[in-house]
Amino acid sequence: MDLQDIQKRIDADLGAIKTDADCGTFHQRYLSKSGEVTALLGQLRDIEPSRRAEMGAALNNLKKSTEERLFTLQRQIKEAEFKARLMKDKLIDITIPDINARQGTLHPITVITREVEEVFAGMGFIIEDGPEIATEYENFESVNIPKNHPARDMQDTFWLERQEGAASVLRKKSAEPLLKQNASVSDLLVLRTHTSAWQNHMLKKYGPTFRAICPGRTFRNENIDATHDTTFFQVEGMMVGEDISIANLIYFMKEALAAVFKKDIKVRLRPSYYPFVEPGFDLDASCIFCDARGCTVCKHTSWIEFCGCGMIHPYVLQQGGIDPKKYQGFAFGFGLTRLAMMRYGLDDCRILNSGNLEFLKGVPQK
Ligand code: PHE
Repeated sequence: MDLQDIQKRIDADLGAIKTDADCGTFHQRYLSKSGEVTALLGQLRDIEPSRRAEMGAALNNLKKSTEERLFTLQRQIKEAEFKARLMKDKLIDITIPDINARQGTLHPITVITREVEEVFAGMGFIIEDGPEIATEYENFESVNIPKNHPARDMQDTFWLERQEGAASVLRKKSAEPLLKQNASVSDLLVLRTHTSAWQNHMLKKYGPTFRAICPGRTFRNENIDATHDTTFFQVEGMMVGEDISIANLIYFMKEALAAVFKKDIKVRLRPSYYPFVEPGFDLDASCIFCDARGCTVCKHTSWIEFCGCGMIHPYVLQQGGIDPKKYQGFAFGFGLTRLAMMRYGLDDCRILNSGNLEFLKGVPQK
């Protein structure tokens, strides 16, 4: 067994190592299970007993010193490689914008909602946010839609089964106090069919004098077509105080529409029926597409039906803890989905819930 020969080759090979990968190759050749040093250790058995102890010690020394030298070398190489990489990275300016980066766009409903919020906030309205799941009381009873009203028809409303820990948890945060005050635990839950479901909450939270809007997602169990989807967006608006009249309603709607469409808009009221307002109206806006000259959108009437509105029904005020003899208010509810369709010239509302990226990429952000 010639230790001198192997020692020489080890010295030469260690001296030639340049990279971390070389270290691996070296280890494989000499120190691994199938390596030369390991093989020599295995051959000790065949050596005559008188020399075995001496050879064994020498071999073990060789193994140990080789391992240590390799280890030191490997650590130096790794440090050097790391430093080199850092130096290279220092030359990369991570603040330079990526010219290939794709920029996301806001959804048309988001753009419109923010705009409407800005307009109403500018007129002193609080921006409220209500849950999409409402109690039967909030969605119907509190806004004067009694038990047998046609609007409660099963085909219009998505009813939710109340399950302890499921739906009730979803809405726990904001609505639990309401549940306790108004509703028996057996109250059913619904996906709110209109943002009017939050009227009662706003009355209680901000009454008796306030103005607030509540935009949000609403749901109806409807047949889907170009102008109906099961999920759509509305804004609820309320203004309550001591001398609020229909004149105030007209003023705010006219101002808001003019601000959203950036042009002068005429409005008119037609008598209409909603259980939660008395008197109730449908509000028409002068057609923004033809400036009231007559076109296919307004069917040559020069008016576009815009929203339901009216003076808040005394029963609704009462349910909100407000004395209807002393205070009045107006309420309105309009479709953000419809507004987005008007603004972006869409003829099918279903595109808005489709997640169609080609469409969304093209949405102007202002
Ligand atoms: N909640 C009504 C709807 O969804 C709109 C409305 C709100 C009408 C407030 C009058 C007053 O159609």
